[in-house]
Amino acid sequence: MGKIILTGDRPTGRLHLGHFVGSLRRRVELQNSGLFDKVFIMIADAQALTDNADNPEKIRQNIIEVALDYLACGIDPAKSTIFIQSQVAELCELAFYYMNLVTVSRLQRNPTVKTEIQMRNFETSIPVGFFTYPISQASDITAFRATTVPAGEDQQPMIEQAREIVRRFNGIYGDTLVEPEILLPDNAACMRLPGTDGKAKMSKSLGNCIYLSDSSEEVRKRVMSMYTDPDHIRVEDPGKVEGNTVFTYLDAFCRPEHFAQYWPDYSSLDELKAHYMRGGLGDVKVKKFLYAILEELLTPIRERRKEWEKDIPAVFDILKRGSEAAREVAAGTLADVRRAMRIDYFDDAELIAEQSRKFSV
Ligand code: TRP
Repeated sequence: MGKIILTGDRPTGRLHLGHFVGSLRRRVELQNSGLFDKVFIMIADAQALTDNADNPEKIRQNIIEVALDYLACGIDPAKSTIFIQSQVAELCELAFYYMNLVTVSRLQRNPTVKTEIQMRNFETSIPVGFFTYPISQASDITAFRATTVPAGEDQQPMIEQAREIVRRFNGIYGDTLVEPEILLPDNAACMRLPGTDGKAKMSKSLGNCIYLSDSSEEVRKRVMSMYTDPDHIRVEDPGKVEGNTVFTYLDAFCRPEHFAQYWPDYSSLDELKAHYMRGGLGDVKVKKFLYAILEELLTPIRERRKEWEKDIPAVFDILKRGSEAAREVAAGTLADVRRAMRIDYFDDAELIAEQSRKFSV
C-alpha cells in the first residue's frame, strides 16, 4: 500500500520559523520527493475553536494567513491537497465513534493536553471539546489513511494516542484503519526552536517569534536583539554556545556552504563555535551572519507570498477544491468504518434477510 501524508496547523496566527523547521520545510521536501501517493495539509480550524470558542473571528481571519504561508513555502496545490478541517463533516462522525474507545483517564494522561491545560489556566474549566481534541486529531489522521505525519515533538503524544485508537478499533471491528507514524525533525535544534528571547517556544503571546511573512527589517531587529550568553560581556570574554539562541538558530539553519558565501573566515559551524567559546568573537558578527542566512531563506518565501496576496480569490478557490477532494476521501473511510461497526443498516442485505427470518417464525 502506498504512503500517505496528513498534517496540519491550527489557524491562530501567521506561521513562524518554529513551524518552518518543525514541520513545514519537511512537508515541502516530502511533497516533492515523489515517495508519497498523496499529501494532505489541513488547516485545523475546528481544533483551533476548541480553545477559542469565544473568538471565532480570530480563526476566520487566520485561515488565509496560514494558506498564504503554505503556498509561500512551496506547498504546491497541484501536488498536495490543502483543505479546511471544518469543511469535512465526516471527521466529526469518526471522532464520535472513536470517543467510545478512549477513557477519560487516558486523555488526562496525554502530556501535551496536560501542558496546554496549564498554559491556558483551564484547570477547573476545561472545555470538553478541548479535552477530547486528541480523539478528533485521530480522526483527522485516520480519515485519510495517513501512514506518515510530519510534525514537531509536541505532537508525539497525539500520534501515540491515534495509534492506540487504531489498534483498538481494528481489534474490535476488524482491520479497517491504518496506523500512522510520526516523522520528527532530524535535528535537535529544529525539534524545539526557542523564541528569540531564549524562552522555550516561539509564541505569539510572548512576542518572541520571527514570522515567515516578517519584513527584512523586522527580521533584522529580531535577530539583533536576540538572547545570547548573558555572561559574554566583552568581545574577549569566552562565550557559551549552549542555551545561546543565536547558535541554536545556526544549528537549525546554517549549512556548510553558508560560510563560503557569507563568512569565509570560517569553514564550519564547529569552527565558529570554537572561536566564540575561546573568546574574541563578538555577538554582533554572529548575529549578522545568522541574519544573512535567514534572509536568504525568507526572501523567496516573502516574494511568493506577495504574488499570492494579489489573488486572494484564487487562494480561497484552492481551499474550496481541496476541501471537496478531502471530503470524498474521508467519506470513503467513514463508509468502511460504518461497515466494520455494522451500522450500515441500509446497505446490509444480510441484516434485512436475517431480521425477516427472525420475525417469520
Ligand atoms: N495539533 C496540531 C497543532 O497544534 C494541528 C493538527 C490538527 C494536526 N490535526 C492534526 C497535526 C493532524 C497533525 C495531524 O499544530
